[in-house]
Amino acid sequence: MGFLSVLSMAHQMIRERVHPGDIVIDATAGNGVDTRFLAELVGPRGVAYAFDIQEAAITATRKRLEPLEEQLLLPDLRLVYDSHEAMTRHVEADHAGNVAAAMFNLGYLPGADPSVITKTDSSIAALEAAVSLMKPGGIITCVLYPGHPGGGDEAEAVLQWAQALPSAEGQAVLYRMAQKPTAPFLVAIERSRKQ
Ligand SMILES: C[S@@+](CC[C@H](N)C(=O)[O-])C[C@H]1O[C@@H](n2cnc3c(N)ncnc32)[C@H](O)[C@@H]1O
Repeated sequence: MGFLSVLSMAHQMIRERVHPGDIVIDATAGNGVDTRFLAELVGPRGVAYAFDIQEAAITATRKRLEPLEEQLLLPDLRLVYDSHEAMTRHVEADHAGNVAAAMFNLGYLPGADPSVITKTDSSIAALEAAVSLMKPGGIITCVLYPGHPGGGDEAEAVLQWAQALPSAEGQAVLYRMAQKPTAPFLVAIERSRKQ
C-alpha cells in the first residue's frame, strides 16, 4: 500500500475537521471536484464559497453540484467569478472568523488553456486572506505543482510563506515526496486555536 496522493491527503485532513453546517471555501473551483467534496461535507445547513477567474470553471462547478441540488443536499452555494485574492470582499462579514476550511489547488484548469494559471502574488494574497477568515482550529490546504510550467516559482514562494507564518497565527505542515522534488506537494495550515 503506497502513501496517499497529495490530493487524497488534503481531502483526509479536511474530512477530519469539517462538519455539517460549517462554512467552507474552495479558492480554486476548477472542475468543481473539491467544491463538491466540501459541499457534501457541510450539507444543506452549511455554506460553500467557490472562486475562479474562468467562467468555464464556474459553469463546470455549477454542473457538478446539480445532483446535490436535485437531492436537496446543496449547501448555501456562493460561486464567485473573481480572483481568490478578493476573498475577504466576497465573504460575508458574519462568516469572517468562522470558516472551517479553505482548499487551494493551484495551477491550471485541466482541459482548458494551460497558460491561465494561478500566480504567485495573488495566491499568497489569497492564502493570507484565508488565514484571516479561518475560525480557531480551521484548516487550509494548498496543493502545489513545482513540475508545471510556471509552477516552480509559485510553489517555492508559497513554501517560504508557510515557513515564515508566525506560529501564533497557525501551524504549517508539509506533505511531500522526499525523492521527487518536482512532484506535487501539499502545504496545510491549521489556524491557531488561541485567537
Ligand atoms: C488545478 S485547477 C483547480 C481544480 C479544482 N479544485 C477541482 O477540484 O477541479 C486550478 C484553478 O485555479 C483557477 N485560478 C487561477 N487563478 C485564479 C485566481 N486568481 N483566483 C481563483 N481561481 C484561479 C484556474 O482557473 C483553475 O480553474
